[in-house]
Amino acid sequence: MTDRLEALWHARYRNALPDRVDRAVQAGGDLLESLLGHRSVRSYLPDALPPGTLEKAVAAAQSAATSSNLQSWSVVAVEDAARRSRLAALCGNQAHIAVAPLFMVWLADLSRVERIATRAGLDHGALDHTETFLVATIDAALAAQNAVAALEAAGLGTVYIGGLRNHPAEIAKELHLPQRCMGMFGLCVGWPDPGHPASIKPRLPQDVVLHREHYDPRQEEALIAAYDACADTFQKEQGLPSRAWSLTVAERLSGAERLGGRETMRESLAARGFPLA
Ligand SMILES: Cc1cc2nc3c(=O)[nH]c(=O)nc-3n(C[C@H](O)[C@H](O)[C@H](O)COP(=O)(O)O)c2cc1C
Repeated sequence: MTDRLEALWHARYRNALPDRVDRAVQAGGDLLESLLGHRSVRSYLPDALPPGTLEKAVAAAQSAATSSNLQSWSVVAVEDAARRSRLAALCGNQAHIAVAPLFMVWLADLSRVERIATRAGLDHGALDHTETFLVATIDAALAAQNAVAALEAAGLGTVYIGGLRNHPAEIAKELHLPQRCMGMFGLCVGWPDPGHPASIKPRLPQDVVLHREHYDPRQEEALIAAYDACADTFQKEQGLPSRAWSLTVAERLSGAERLGGRETMRESLAARGFPLA
């Protein structure tokens, strides 16, 4: 197991597994290996998923912690090919949505708790607040990532689809979403196409994201320069254009137009019943 963990750690950081990690991961090592082996999959076989895959993924999702046990998320499982094609178009023509047999739409869902509060005859003014919206979006993200972990451990591939937020009103219409319920991101699920394997994408060195006792970005610049070189090597290995990661990040944030239409998100949220008071 340690050999495989070492290989996965190296793929993720392009660095050796630190000595102190070696022994600490013996228990639960399979889970860590599966997590370290994550890669987004964008090429799928059209083959059906094993029976029970969806139910097991949702059980994993529902096992995630949830703020105040509000369970303020829902998911729409879309298997119908015609609907997946329409969603693929709405999400920026991402073909993998139409090919993968399952597309899961993860929802920040305050509509259910509103119905519960209404039936109880109680005021529900807190639903209008930004904090409650954050609770629902964090819940949805934690649930989805638990599902991803379970699906990947079963050998399936996934890719999140933020393009789901390109057209919130149209998505709501397609999926019959009520007010106070919004699709935050999608998730393709399917068998990875062995003809187009995805690779583990290196991440920032741990010392950039892990701060001990207090926040300290002093070493960041040099470490990110080293990561730029590492990310560039990955690009070349993948046959992709040479690119410094930090430049991609900076360009991505260079103007509201870089948000690809999602710069109107505040208005979209208000229209979906999230006034963000
Ligand atoms: C919330 C979220 C939205 C994403 N949206 C898309 C998307 O619309 N299309 C896509 O191809 N990848 C999408 N991704 C995948 C990221 O591009 C990917 O996770 C990142 O490049 C790191 O690569 P890796 O997942 O292979 O390690 C998304 C990821 C997240 C977490």
